[in-house]
Amino acid sequence: MPHLFSPLTIKGVTLRNRIGMSPMTMYRSVEGRMDDYHVSYLGARAAGGFGLVFPEQIAITPDGRTTVSCAGIYDESQLEGLERVCRIITSMGGVPAIQLGHTGRKGSLVTPWEGGHMLPPDHPKGWQTKAPSAIAYGGDFAHAPEELTVAEIHGLYEEYARSARWAVEVGFEWIEMHYAHGYLGASFFSPIANHRTDAYGGSLENRTRFHLEALDAVRAVIPERVPLTMRLGSDDLNPDGTQFDDSVVAIGWMKEHGLDLADLSVGGNTDDMRENIFNTPSAFVQRANRVRTEVDIPVAASWNLGKPQNADAAIKDGLIDLVLLGRPALSNPHWPVWAARELGYDNPFGLVPEDWGWWLRNFRADQESIGFPAVSEETAGAPAATVMPTQGLKVALDVDVEPGEATLDGVPLHDAA
Ligand SMILES: Cc1cc2nc3c(=O)[nH]c(=O)nc-3n(C[C@H](O)[C@H](O)[C@H](O)COP(=O)(O)O)c2cc1C
Repeated sequence: MPHLFSPLTIKGVTLRNRIGMSPMTMYRSVEGRMDDYHVSYLGARAAGGFGLVFPEQIAITPDGRTTVSCAGIYDESQLEGLERVCRIITSMGGVPAIQLGHTGRKGSLVTPWEGGHMLPPDHPKGWQTKAPSAIAYGGDFAHAPEELTVAEIHGLYEEYARSARWAVEVGFEWIEMHYAHGYLGASFFSPIANHRTDAYGGSLENRTRFHLEALDAVRAVIPERVPLTMRLGSDDLNPDGTQFDDSVVAIGWMKEHGLDLADLSVGGNTDDMRENIFNTPSAFVQRANRVRTEVDIPVAASWNLGKPQNADAAIKDGLIDLVLLGRPALSNPHWPVWAARELGYDNPFGLVPEDWGWWLRNFRADQESIGFPAVSEETAGAPAATVMPTQGLKVALDVDVEPGEATLDGVPLHDAA
């Protein structure tokens, strides 16, 4: 039975464990480009043991960004930064994943720390948003989008395909389409945001057309070995919005259009939700499991899986295939190592690059002083399972040293601690 530290193979890509860093928008780009900030921040998470590393939602068009400070893959000048990001993640043993996004009627914002509200189309840092229907989200998203024409919808497939092709060229090995959180794809799916009367609105089949045609467009241009996944806004938690039952049916269709894994998340098409998923432990795990069981497709979930025992149980109990961590990855770049220690898996330092791992294993410190939280009494001594050896940085060591036998200038390291 797999556990959190078992490898996961989807198509031609194997993750060293079942822990992914969930995409998180950092609002740190200039002209949509990634730079040293992103390289260091993402490299740290890959070095900390995350098997899959998503940067953030990366926009396929300038008006697909959330703010003017968000990253994009619509201009060749953005490729160098993205390539550097891929290189650092890969060199630390992680798999770089891209989340292709378009914010639809939830774009043209200022950053959260500037208030997060929407700018009018004529503001120098704003733009006219586009969406399936000309319906404003409301609240802080006050300005109405324009309705996309069918020709514009078809043009977006070309942008998805071009972005996916560029993504593979710069080194991404996993492609996710962001169709959740009230952004463009999610709003096509939701009767709250989509009032169209053409082939893209109305019935479930029509509201899923934007998903299936975009999947076809992307699948056609990426190598077979590259997993194609979708973060789906699978439930608006509102009787008038996206219903989870519909999502289960639609994911079945998506599987036939090349979807390799479904990443279940919230619809985000309204603030009026009957359930607070934002701080409920393992909030989307049972829903994801329903998809796994009924559609027979691998699934991922995020939302409050940062307690190692919950994350591990979600895998061990066969509920989901991949755990995605957002806020826990922000707060602790070495979350996988901490979790491995907490859960009693042996060789937790096999998750970090070999040269650091060597020191941490061999130059034994007082466990309370090592810099990782001490293993809690609750879990210490739990049955050990084996952590896969790191696929990270390999450092040429000319001696093969067992724990406890290492020396530094002739002094046994374990005594020196
Ligand atoms: C700062 C921040 C930025 C986020 N940006 C994105 C994003 O770009 N794309 C996305 O799909 N989700 C985004 N999310 C949601 C996370 O990926 C994740 O699904 C959510 O935080 C729940 O997981 P958690 O409970 O582990 O934090 C963001 C979350 C945070 C905290």
